[in-house]
Formats: sequence, structure tokens, C-alpha cells
Amino acid sequence: MNFELTIAKTAEIEADLELIFVIDNDFKHRFVQDKKLLKKAGFSAAQDETCLLIEKNRLYVGATSLASAPMRTAAANALKSLIGKNYKSIKVSTYTNQGCIYSLRAMVEGFILGAYTFETYKSKKNESKIKHITLSIDEYNGVEIDIEKASEQIHKAQIIADATNFTRDIVNTTPDDCYPDVMASIAEGLAEETGLKCKVLKPKALKKEKMETLLAVARASRHKPRVIHLTHKPKNAKIKVTLVGKGLTYDSGGLSLKPADYMVTMKSDKSGGSAVMGIMKAISEMDLPIEVHGFVGAVENMIGGDAYKPDDVLVAKNGKTIEIRNTDAEGRLVLADVLCYAQQEVKADYIFDFATLTGACVVGVGHYTSGVMGNNDEVKAMVVKEAKNSGELATALDFNPYLKKTIKSEIADVCNISNTRYGGAITAGQFLSEFIDKKHSDKWAHIDIAGPAFVEHSWGENPHGASGAGVRMMVKLLEKLAK
Ligand code: BES
Ligand code: ZN
Ligand code: ZN
Repeated sequence: MNFELTIAKTAEIEADLELIFVIDNDFKHRFVQDKKLLKKAGFSAAQDETCLLIEKNRLYVGATSLASAPMRTAAANALKSLIGKNYKSIKVSTYTNQGCIYSLRAMVEGFILGAYTFETYKSKKNESKIKHITLSIDEYNGVEIDIEKASEQIHKAQIIADATNFTRDIVNTTPDDCYPDVMASIAEGLAEETGLKCKVLKPKALKKEKMETLLAVARASRHKPRVIHLTHKPKNAKIKVTLVGKGLTYDSGGLSLKPADYMVTMKSDKSGGSAVMGIMKAISEMDLPIEVHGFVGAVENMIGGDAYKPDDVLVAKNGKTIEIRNTDAEGRLVLADVLCYAQQEVKADYIFDFATLTGACVVGVGHYTSGVMGNNDEVKAMVVKEAKNSGELATALDFNPYLKKTIKSEIADVCNISNTRYGGAITAGQFLSEFIDKKHSDKWAHIDIAGPAFVEHSWGENPHGASGAGVRMMVKLLEKLAK
């Protein structure tokens, strides 16, 4: 999909379809030329409501205001309503207000995110045919619009939304088509395309690095594990950031096998690692002036004669011993070793990890919101704030010393599950904190994306399936840190 910004009026622009936003029920606005027809069609201009006037070649969509969030979802739903239709080009008149540049950015993000479909396994494709969108800013009434700045924002929106769709594609791919070695190949392909550096650790190297807990989780799978390290290292880097992602290409639960209904969708347990790859793609395309390292622990959690077991005690890379009481709490084991490895390799100013870590997080905060944890309230608040600015939902979940006691083990340094059913997102986060060095303790945040990463219905600007959770929030945050 490509975008063109112009000061020509929409009447002068050639396109298959005109898209008109109706903001805050303002049917009197000069953009709204079909008041009577819209009324007849019962169009009330509610947020995300669309109305296609086929004979007029006009599509109307409602939004409550020009703020980024409503503009993003309205744009997404407009394009979603055109999936499978034969329109190839659209023209849009944009409203000029103080925040115009940002509503343009949100709109473009919405277009690309809303047009996304995952059709790999369908014989008959039902895809968006929109190739070209012309954005007209013909209304100046006293508001200065810097075309150059606007184009820059549109370009950024394209990079971010494309990276989100890149992540969605990886997550949506089935476990037998996307296993650890495939994740590594995708990372290598990305590096080739963007100029990122890519290092892949295979089992021999993982053994040498003493990543025994990761190897234990991987042991029963015919697909061997990989740890991926992508690097963006510009010359003028101001700070260093490390990203770590849980890349469970399938989570059967292991010997603590998941019940049938809970196993379906577990191809999405690679969402954290896939998000890290999407973030790396975006920041390298934006060429942000910060050094960013992306680590992915790509592993499949299966059953078999040599599977790791409840009652095993594993030794993590940092020497800590872990009592295994449930093999379905595998993500934290993989992350433990990858977090240790990442800290050994890079002395970063910030460390963020992304993981579909707990069902408890989904129970606690719902399907649409990520849980942000860590030892430092300011770091957590920064993540929550930038998530919101980016169009993602996130909320802070606070650690406390009482819950920490519930992961104590009688026979090892720590247990991989808590002794209570409650507070499972937090106790998982506190388990991870055991693998963060003291000197990094205040620089780390853990983002549990189990809720929003994969949802079996569409919502906001997200389709059924993978949402690409984590990508937009972190790119926004990294853009901020790069300023
Ligand atoms: N991958 C799951 C968490 C998950 C659940 C992600 C639902 C997305 C949707 C994780 O590995 C897991 O199974 N966690 C267990 C932990 C428990 C055994 C302490 C869980 O949440 O039930
Ligand atoms: Zn699990
Ligand atoms: Zn898992």
C-alpha cells in the first residue's frame, strides 16, 4: 500500500473510492455530501461504523474525535470493510487541526493494520486490493501544516504498521511451518534486508553458554532450539537497549500437558520473540540513533521419553537452581537463560522483555491489555505511557514481597510455579527478576502480552489472530529514548 500527500482538493483527485470521516456526528461538515442517503441507510456515524454508498463511490466512517485512537480504529475499520472488494485506490480529505500531523499518522497506521489479512492457508484468497491512498490536505484555515513533517510522520506510520504486520505473519504461521530454525531463518532474512547484524546460537553453542534450562524445555521436541541475537548499532548511538522475547513456537504444556481447549492457539506462544523481530525491523528502517539488541529464545515445548519433568531441578545460566513443579511454566525458564545471556553480552541502559507468559495476566486485566512489571515504577510508567500513545493498552502490575515468598522452593533456590493460584502474572514476573543482575534491577521491565497477542475475534485495529502486540508500544518508546 502506498501513500501520497497532496494539497489538491479531493474533487481533482482520481481514485476508485472517496473515504469520508464523519467526526463527532458532524453531518453538517462540508465533507459530508450525502446526508439524506446516509440517513436512509441508517448510518449514525458511531465510532468505527461504516457506510458504503456504492453508486456514489463513497465510503463513510464514524469517529468520535480527531484524536489518534479513534482515528486509527476508524481508518482500520474502513479498510477492513473493503477487504474482498475490487476498489484499488482511495482518496481522503483530511481535517486540519492542531494535532493534524498525529491524526494523519494514526490514520495511516489504521489503514495498513486494518487491511491486514492472513491468507497463507486459504485456497481462495480474500485480501485487501487497496494499493494507493491519496491524502488531501486542502483546508488551511489558519492552521499551518508542514508538509515535510507530515510526510515524515506518514513514513514512520508505514514502517511501524508494516513491522506490526510482519510480526502478525510470524505468529499466525502454524507450528509445523514456523519452528525455532525457521524463526532463525526469518531473523537472518531480516538482517540481510535491513543491515541488522544477526547471530544464531545452535544447541552446541547453547550448551557452551550453559543455557541448561532452555535446553531442558527444548529437549523433547524434534525441532532443536535457537537463540537469536539481532543488533542495530548506529554510529551516533546515544544509549543501549536490550529486548528479549519468548519464542515458544509451540507450547503443548510438556508433561504437565495442557487440556485440549487450552492447547489450541499455542502457536501464538512465540509472540514475544516475534514482536522483538518486528521492533528490530522498524527501528532499523527508521535508523533510530540508539543501539538496540534483540534476543529471541526460540524453543518448542513438547512431550516425549526425554522430556523434562516435574520434580527435576535445573541449573540456569547464572547458577541459580530451579525446582520444576509444572512443565507448562516453561516460558520463564527459557527467558531466565536468555535474560542472563543478554546481560552477559550487552551492558544496556534498559532491558525489556516480551512474553505470552501467563494465563493469569489475561484473567487479571483482560484480553486487550498487556501487564507491565518490574522493580522500578518510573520504568513501568514509561512503558505504560508510550503503549497508550502508540494505540496499545497496557497497565502496571506491582510486585510485592508477600507474593515473592510463594515461589520459594524447599529443595532449590526458586520454584518455577507459585504455591498459590492467585497473582500468577506477578509471581511469574518475580521469578524472572531472579535472573536480572542487581546492577540492572532498576533498568528492566517485563511485559506480559498473553492477553492481546492473539485474540480469536477482531477488535480495534486488530484482525482475528495475531495482533503484533508489543511492536507499536516499544517502537514508540524507543523513538522517545532516541530523542
Ligand atoms: N504460554 C502460556 C501462557 C498463556 C496462556 C499464553 C494463555 C497465552 C494464553 C504459559 O507458558 C503457561 O502455560 N503458563 C501457565 C503457568 C502456570 C503453569 C503456572 C498458565 O498460565 O497457566
Ligand atoms: Zn506453558
Ligand atoms: Zn508458554
